[in-house]
Amino acid sequence: MSYSLKFFAPLILLAASGAGQSPRAYSNVGRTPTPEEIQNLGVIVDPSGKNLPAGKGTVKEGQELYAKQCAACHGKTGEGGVADQLVMGSPGNPHKGTFKDTDRHPVSFFAYSTTVWDYINRAMPANRGGSLKPDEVYAVVAYLFYMNGIIQETDVMDATTLPKVKMPNHDNFVPAKPVWPPSPKKPSWY
Ligand code: HEC
Repeated sequence: MSYSLKFFAPLILLAASGAGQSPRAYSNVGRTPTPEEIQNLGVIVDPSGKNLPAGKGTVKEGQELYAKQCAACHGKTGEGGVADQLVMGSPGNPHKGTFKDTDRHPVSFFAYSTTVWDYINRAMPANRGGSLKPDEVYAVVAYLFYMNGIIQETDVMDATTLPKVKMPNHDNFVPAKPVWPPSPKKPSWY
């Protein structure tokens, strides 16, 4: 009995929504994104820095923005809170050791500086992803790189300087080798 209910429930829902009426279901939720928002979120910044927009940001500007828009979740100085720790290492002293599973992905973990920019631009603050302007993303990245010991306090981040920043954990990533032919044995967790 419960089996047949499970099976038919989606069909009943589909039938009830009726052709042409489905937009009604969630019409009072969310809003249509602006063309700028779509363009901003559609851009992927690769390791070379291609697609990085014009703009720039300093450590100091980033510190102010961090306090207002990031600290509530990631802790006052990136030590972590309700959301992940972002700072590992300290100004002048990048974290050079290994990372534990429990460390999640502090900024020092990332392989490419541009990925940090892209991630924050797209996804942060978590409750308003895509809301930061390019200058603001450059600034908060500058602050987080400084706090992680990756750049100097006076360094300015822009489309030229950012891709040149080498991340302290970069060389610890190994390229994944494709396995071919695939193993005929199923892995134990399968
Ligand atoms: C409302 C809470 C919240 C705010 C505010 C917020 N974040 Fe986050 N942030 C998160 C959560 C949750 C994650 C983990 C997301 C995931 O793993 O999918 C995260 C992940 C990250 C990461 C990647 C680290 C990792 O472990 O994956 C970075 C970098 C980051 N945030 C930067 C920022 C910056 C910069 C700001 C401010 C502009 C900010 N966040 C504001 C909740 C927040």
